[in-house]
Amino acid sequence: MNDALSPPPLAAPAAKPASGPQGAGAHIIAVTSGKGGVGKTFISANLAAALTRRGLRVLVLDADLGLANLDVVLNLHPKVTLHEVFTGKATLDEAIVQAPGGFSALLAGSGMVEYSRLTPEVRNQFIQVIDTIRPRYDVILLDTGAGISDVVLFSVSLAHEVLLVATPEPTSLTDAYAAIKVLCTQQKRQHVRLVINQTARPGDGRAITSQLQQVLERFVKTDSGRPVRLIHMGDIPADPSVREAIMRRQLLLQLLPGCPAALAMLQLAGKIEATLPGAAAPK
Ligand SMILES: Nc1ncnc2c1ncn2[C@@H]1O[C@H](COP(=O)(O)OP(=O)(O)O)[C@@H](O)[C@H]1O
Ligand SMILES: [Mg+2]
Repeated sequence: MNDALSPPPLAAPAAKPASGPQGAGAHIIAVTSGKGGVGKTFISANLAAALTRRGLRVLVLDADLGLANLDVVLNLHPKVTLHEVFTGKATLDEAIVQAPGGFSALLAGSGMVEYSRLTPEVRNQFIQVIDTIRPRYDVILLDTGAGISDVVLFSVSLAHEVLLVATPEPTSLTDAYAAIKVLCTQQKRQHVRLVINQTARPGDGRAITSQLQQVLERFVKTDSGRPVRLIHMGDIPADPSVREAIMRRQLLLQLLPGCPAALAMLQLAGKIEATLPGAAAPK
């Protein structure tokens, strides 16, 4: 059985084996990275749109509380955000907005710097929010912060699956290695899904994944004795259309649906859908 199907209880602390809450409801996928600026928010937003097109009910949660910018990418600036929910000024339902791609979003907006530290309150608020929205969706994407800070690792611990974004740059790969190491030692992840963004040539992502896999097998030991398994989910090519869509604050899938990066996003969505519990061909 896939370990994503037998996750620990909802309130499990971040340091425990973490593969998301139990029971029925959305499959939670953390979109994370070692290094910042590698494309997590771009991928979260467009993946949400692509999964929505496939008929799934999707919500994206801006879990990068300190440096939130999903609102900028989606060009949505609601008065009520997670901040108001966390401070008891608004209900969760008031904070859920409809994004242009037809999916739901829970935005953090700016000014949530106080939540970039993991306090018991932040932890509980996060868990409560996830618990409440989970029955309503098929997929929840957590657009997390980069790196291995407490708050990032905690938000990742709430997810059944990790989709780690890296670029082919050596700095991104070094940081990806460090993040994967922590995910498998602290969170007992048996596998991590990888998407390589801003690739130059077809095949780049597969080669990078197998290089990383080899290094992990040499230097990282999990409790089970088995090496963590990296699963290559796809490549997104470096494409000037991405910058253009972000500058115009539109989804790439809507602005330039035929460009190489948009086509790669659609492919990624198909592969992600196949990993969902109950999918015809689970991985
Ligand atoms: N496939 C791509 N091709 C070209 N530029 C990209 C691509 N993916 C991301 N970018 C650029 O990288 C920037 C950072 O992306 P973003 O999603 O904000 O990163 P993160 O959320 O990881 O910090 C984007 O504003 C965009 O200009
Ligand atoms: Mg981001």
